[in-house]
Amino acid sequence: MVERLLVTGGNGFLGSYLVEKALNQGFEVVVVDDLSTSSCINVPKDAKFVRCKVEEFSDDTRYDFVAHFAARPSPEDYMKHPVETMLSNSLGTLRTLEIAKRSNAVYLYASSSEVYGDASVIPTPEDYFGYVNPVGVRSCYDEGKRFSEALCMAYHRQFGLDVRIERPFNVYGPRMRADGVYGRVIPRFLSQALAGKELTVHGDGNQTRSFLFVHDWLEATWTLLTKPGLSAQVVNIGSPNEVKILELAKLVIKVTKSSSKIVFLPPRPEDPRRRAADITRARSLLSWEPRTSLEEGLKTTAEWLSRAS
Ligand SMILES: NC(=O)c1ccc[n+]([C@@H]2O[C@H](COP(=O)([O-])OP(=O)(O)OC[C@H]3O[C@@H](n4cnc5c(N)ncnc54)[C@H](O)[C@@H]3O)[C@@H](O)[C@H]2O)c1
Repeated sequence: MVERLLVTGGNGFLGSYLVEKALNQGFEVVVVDDLSTSSCINVPKDAKFVRCKVEEFSDDTRYDFVAHFAARPSPEDYMKHPVETMLSNSLGTLRTLEIAKRSNAVYLYASSSEVYGDASVIPTPEDYFGYVNPVGVRSCYDEGKRFSEALCMAYHRQFGLDVRIERPFNVYGPRMRADGVYGRVIPRFLSQALAGKELTVHGDGNQTRSFLFVHDWLEATWTLLTKPGLSAQVVNIGSPNEVKILELAKLVIKVTKSSSKIVFLPPRPEDPRRRAADITRARSLLSWEPRTSLEEGLKTTAEWLSRAS
């Protein structure tokens, strides 16, 4: 029998890779997306596309897998739309959990490393509970993710639903939104470098992140979604390599052979100082390891951006 997958946010960067992979594996795929953060249509013709807000979506179809990815992950975007941001990761999570429960489906939730906030343990393991301001400007995103994780576990404990939670850490690659301030750090630096414009670093550039190429992310996510026996697992999907934002800017200039200069802007409010993933659990549960170096991944993304623009 053909397996059926529902992907919310399936027109977005990460969702579109999952949709493509599932279609290649012979799945039937339904995508729900309101196109709020999309600059183009990524959904292949073989998938059914429903343009709708996830918090308003209902469906009687039976699914084998439900993946909830709909969100506004760019800080500039979610700070401008805090209410919509909270709704897709509260009501939207409830709606999709109900669909999974009715279908007895495996439910995958795309949470975020943002649940850790300004973590004091680096690399951060899954059992670090987080240091998050519940009323700060980032709380619409961080607390939406934290609430959704709690709701997933409530559905697991009360109804026995097979839920799996992933916490991605700064995934990047082709198809990422690169427009203006909404682009996250890698597509923003790459577009600036390719256009010969100044690279804009927020703060002093000593804040760190760890970056994961999208093909590596897809491999881990597909295993987390489809491997039997992973119910109620919470897994970091990221890289343990910590990189200063200033070093990233310099590497982008190197790989694009750009003559752009680096300029410094005021720091972003409540920007976490350090971030890197402890991937011990992903290594053991998913037999997974990131394989793409940052330099290699940046080159591939730069080539895509040059072709796309
Ligand atoms: N890319 C990363 O590095 C990263 C890191 C941590 C977590 N995540 C999470 O992974 C998921 C996918 O992120 P992405 O990078 O692909 O982002 P994206 O912005 O490219 O994709 C999100 C998609 O969700 C859609 N969407 C937003 N609000 C919606 C709503 N209310 N109803 C229906 N559709 C809606 C958008 O139109 C978009 O197509 C998100 O939940 C995000 O929080 C991503």
